[in-house]
Parts: sequence; structure tokens; C-alpha cells
Amino acid sequence: MRWLEVKRTDAFDFLCENIASDKSISHRCAMFSLLSDKPSRIRNYLRAEDTLNTLQIVKQLGADVEDDGYTMTITPPSEMQEPDDILDCGNSGTAMRLFCGFLSSLPGHYVLTGDQYLRRRPMKRVTTPLTQIGAKIDGREHGNLAPLCIRGDELKSFNYESAIASAQVKSAMILAALRADDVSTYREPELSRDHTERMLRGMGANIESWDVITIEPMRGPLEPLDITVPADPSSGFFFAVAAAIVPGSRVTIKNVTLNPTRIEAYKILEKMGAKVKLDEKENRYEPIGDITVSYHGRLKAVEVGERISWLIDELPALSIAMAVADGESVVKNAKELRVKESDRISCVVDGLKQCGIVCEEFEDGYRIEGGELRSAEIDSCGDHRIAMSFAIAGLLSGIQVKDIECIETSFPNFLELLGEITEIRTWK
Ligand code: S3P
Repeated sequence: MRWLEVKRTDAFDFLCENIASDKSISHRCAMFSLLSDKPSRIRNYLRAEDTLNTLQIVKQLGADVEDDGYTMTITPPSEMQEPDDILDCGNSGTAMRLFCGFLSSLPGHYVLTGDQYLRRRPMKRVTTPLTQIGAKIDGREHGNLAPLCIRGDELKSFNYESAIASAQVKSAMILAALRADDVSTYREPELSRDHTERMLRGMGANIESWDVITIEPMRGPLEPLDITVPADPSSGFFFAVAAAIVPGSRVTIKNVTLNPTRIEAYKILEKMGAKVKLDEKENRYEPIGDITVSYHGRLKAVEVGERISWLIDELPALSIAMAVADGESVVKNAKELRVKESDRISCVVDGLKQCGIVCEEFEDGYRIEGGELRSAEIDSCGDHRIAMSFAIAGLLSGIQVKDIECIETSFPNFLELLGEITEIRTWK
């Protein structure tokens, strides 16, 4: 078990050029390269545990991967290989759910598994609609819990209306639709992150999205990807919160995706009183640019209850900003937080209480009374975003975070970057 100590810091001005690459886009790069018959070139792929596991699965399916440290060339096999071992998604719900959709129509037998946390997360949200269109998937609790066994088969087209705004469910169904027997449609209650639609469209797939997404089956292999993965706004957000709460501070996060479905948390931080500047530089598959966040006085409390899927991953870090804001902040309609890498509602509330903050837990969110953070010892619950959020709280109060190995799943250089703005210490 590894521990982290973060010391209080003074004002900092941080130009950050190497925030971890985007996790959602990296997973998709590896997986989608299998939909072409030519090599895909991916620059700046996220080399973290989650996305390296996805890459390993892509290799087990027969792809050849060459990596010069920056550009990764993924050459798909002429025919997909039936793997002779299990496919280990590690901690990643994205990998497991997207591979369910991808493998359901691929001839062969596949076993998807993951770590102790992933094996507790609900998979029915993808296995039920996939089974309804002919997929053969089984697992514990009638297909709800991994390990999941998939026997690839022919899939029927569908008109599916999802009860949740989830990019993982949407992407699994779009991947299934690409090999279904006719045109399919997918509807979600509000738009969830749309990397899958953007990237597949860029590869030549026939996908239209208005209020409903229409997916035509692939007529042949798609064009390969040629992409530079931008920085991950969810990873950058830890440092955005740091700049917004430490008086006199500023951070600039370079080359980050400015996809609107990914930067809502920055808009909330702006609403709370921080200065936030977006500077778009290019647009290939997605808008990309720099984000600068500066301290602009004590933050004000805020209520968050809409477009939750656009900031779901940032809510733990946002809760640290809420903890030091003037007034009472509320997060609601965020029940999905309970089934992330940990139950993030109870982990956030328990952690903040340890830090001396008054808060109340609801089934679908929490209420936080802004105050003064005090030094504490926090358990990460094995969840990378909980670990990094409380590490940022330590910039104001000093903190010790227990069980920080999980940070490796998404942001391997987090501690190195944190070490540039304050003094830190780790031990076993
Ligand atoms: C992701 C979708 C979101 C998000 C996760 C990554 C993706 O999950 O929380 O970190 O890459 O599709 P849901 O689809 O469950 O909302």
C-alpha cells in the first residue's frame, strides 16, 4: 500500500504541457483501429494502466503494435484472432463495456474480466440491450457482473432508447450496430460524450446524429485513424481546481480537448468565480486548444443538477472547490457516481467530513457547506479520481492519502506534476 503526503502550498503559476492524454479517446483509438484494414497512426496515446490493458487486448485479437515512444502504429490482422486467454480490462469500465459491443458480433469465444473493483460494476446496461439483438453474453448475476463470456454471433438491427446518458452504453451499441443486419437507431436522454460518433465518422462510418443517432452497418473496412490524442480535460481539472482555490495561482493546460461534452466542469468553476479562458487552436475529430484557470477571489457555492454526464468524472475534484466556497453547494441527479470506480458519493462525503467539512449524502448526490479544510488522512477507496481530488485539497491544508497506486490507471505523471507546485512525499 502506497501513501502520499501533500504539503500546503503558496501561489503558483504553472504552464502544464504534459497532462495525461485523453483516456476516452485513447481506448477508442486502440479499439477502432481494428475496424480498418490499414495501419492506424496514433500519436500521444495514453500510456496508463487502463489504456495499456486495452492495447494488450487489441494485440490478443491479432493486431500488431509498433511504438516509438510517441507514435503508435496499430496494424489490424487480416482476420481477427480468437484469443487463447482471458481479456483483462483491469480497472476500466469503458474497455469492458465497449468490448462487449465490439466482440458480440465477432466469430469466436471471449472472456472479459477485470480487477476487484470492475468485477463489482454493473454490466447489465450493455449486456441486456446487446442480448436483445442476438448477442450471446453471460456472466454472474445473469450477465450483470464480470467475468463475462461472449460467443460472437449475428446481430439484428435495433431502435434502442437508453434510460441513461452513458457514452459507454452508446458506444457499445454503435459498435454492435456497425455489424448488424440493417440500419439501427439509438436515443439517449441527453447527449453523452460523443468521441465514438466523431471518430467513427472521421473513419468513414455512416453515422448521423441529431436528436437520434442513426448507424448504418459497415460495408467494408473503415479508413484508418491518423490522430494526435489531446490532453485529458478530466485529468487537467485537478490542476484547474488547484489554481481556483490557492490564492494568487494560475494554471495553463496545453492541447486539451475542448469538446463541449467534456469541459462542463470548467464552466461550473467559472460560475463559482474562477477566471477560465479557452483558446481553441485546431479542430480534427474534436476542437483542441489551451485552458487557463486563475484564482479570482474566494469561490461562491453552486448547484449542479443538469448535464451531469458532461462533468460526471470531474465531480470529485469539483467537490474540493465546493468545500472551500462561500455558501452551500449541492450536487443532484448524479446517482451514476455510485457505480463508478468506487461509490464516489460516499467516498467524497466521507473524505470531506474527515477534512472537517459539513456535508450530507443523498441517494443521487450531496450537499456541501463551504468552510476551511483541515489536515486529514484519507482513504482513496482504490479510486484514482478520489486519490487525486484529495491530493489537491492538501494544497490548502496538508493531507495524507492512502492507497494511491490507483493513480496509475489514468494519470501516471500526476505526482511529478503535483511536485512542481508543492512539496510531496510518498512511502510504502
Ligand atoms: C466514458 C464514459 C463515462 C465516463 C468514463 C469514460 C467513456 O462513463 O464516466 O470515465 O469513455 O465512454 P458512462 O458512460 O458510464 O457515463
